[in-house]
Amino acid sequence: MAKQVAVIGSGVMGHGIAQEYALAGYTVFLYDLQESFLLKAKRSVENSLSLLVKEQVISEQAKQDALERIVLTTDLQAAVAKADVITEAIPEVIEMKWDLFEKLEQFAKEDAIIASNTSTFSIARLIEKAKTPQRIIITHFFNPAQLVPLVEIVRHEKTADAVVSRTMELMVEIGKSPVLLKKDVPGFIANRLQTALMREAFSLLKEGVADAREIDTVMKDGIGFRWAFVGPIETADFGGLDTWKRVIDNLAPELNASQKAPELIDELVEKGKLGTKTGSGIYSYADTSVEEKWKQRDEQFIRLAKMKRG
Ligand SMILES: NC(=O)c1ccc[n+]([C@@H]2O[C@H](COP(=O)([O-])OP(=O)(O)OC[C@H]3O[C@@H](n4cnc5c(N)ncnc54)[C@H](O)[C@@H]3O)[C@@H](O)[C@H]2O)c1
Repeated sequence: MAKQVAVIGSGVMGHGIAQEYALAGYTVFLYDLQESFLLKAKRSVENSLSLLVKEQVISEQAKQDALERIVLTTDLQAAVAKADVITEAIPEVIEMKWDLFEKLEQFAKEDAIIASNTSTFSIARLIEKAKTPQRIIITHFFNPAQLVPLVEIVRHEKTADAVVSRTMELMVEIGKSPVLLKKDVPGFIANRLQTALMREAFSLLKEGVADAREIDTVMKDGIGFRWAFVGPIETADFGGLDTWKRVIDNLAPELNASQKAPELIDELVEKGKLGTKTGSGIYSYADTSVEEKWKQRDEQFIRLAKMKRG
């Protein structure tokens, strides 16, 4: 079987998804609107692969082979013509996704799987205008896509069973940990859990219960330390369901239940302080360069992944 895939959009997510397929031996056609975006994406892949070599996860030869398997193109038709699987990672704008799907349905092989990396649209919304919904599926990777194992898979009742099983197999083949949802709900599973936690974290910050650094420490050294190995439902079992019944009954009424983003985030967005990508957000990144921060984060993720595998 031909081992060729296409990734459409080479930004934050697209380059990492391309890297995963390339490392697993697939020829990857990586498409974007401009050559300069593609060159930036390839540099990011090269840096990420170099880090994997430094951390002894892959060999220098595997790095070179993966880089050679990534073909950059600004020609959409050429990108998808021979692909068995096409993953779109273009901006989260529904009209853009519909417009792209229309082209993909026209240019792609009849049996090619079309996967979306959407983080918020339901599969029902994505396929609203599709002529071949049976081959459309969501594969929701996590940032950084090349390092976080989870991929949430969302199907529609119109998605062919064979497409679902092939996608699940493929994710395992490229080293991912796929979770297939039984229902199409907004935000899937991970972003719902994450949003519930972020809402409370920002509420504690606003109420002056602790500074950002302390709140992050509680997560990294407490809850998050456990959660890398024990999920929330297991945690309830380990802690005792009688205890957790009291915890939830007593605390649920105390929790923030806001229906919108925290004011602090609104204010910072208004000022253009978007976090690492603009050099400051909740924290300032004046002392350590943002690139260095990202590199440190990725090194830690690589080491955690090794430990989890090991
Ligand atoms: N950033 C995240 O943390 C994250 C996590 C999971 C899922 N997602 C989802 O992944 C998708 C991509 O997000 P991102 O953060 O990588 O965005 P991004 O802005 O970093 O990258 C999008 C890329 O798509 C290109 N593009 C724009 N219009 C295009 C078009 N019509 N055809 C082809 N390419 C086009 C852009 O030039 C850009 O390079 C979105 O659906 C997003 O919701 C993002």
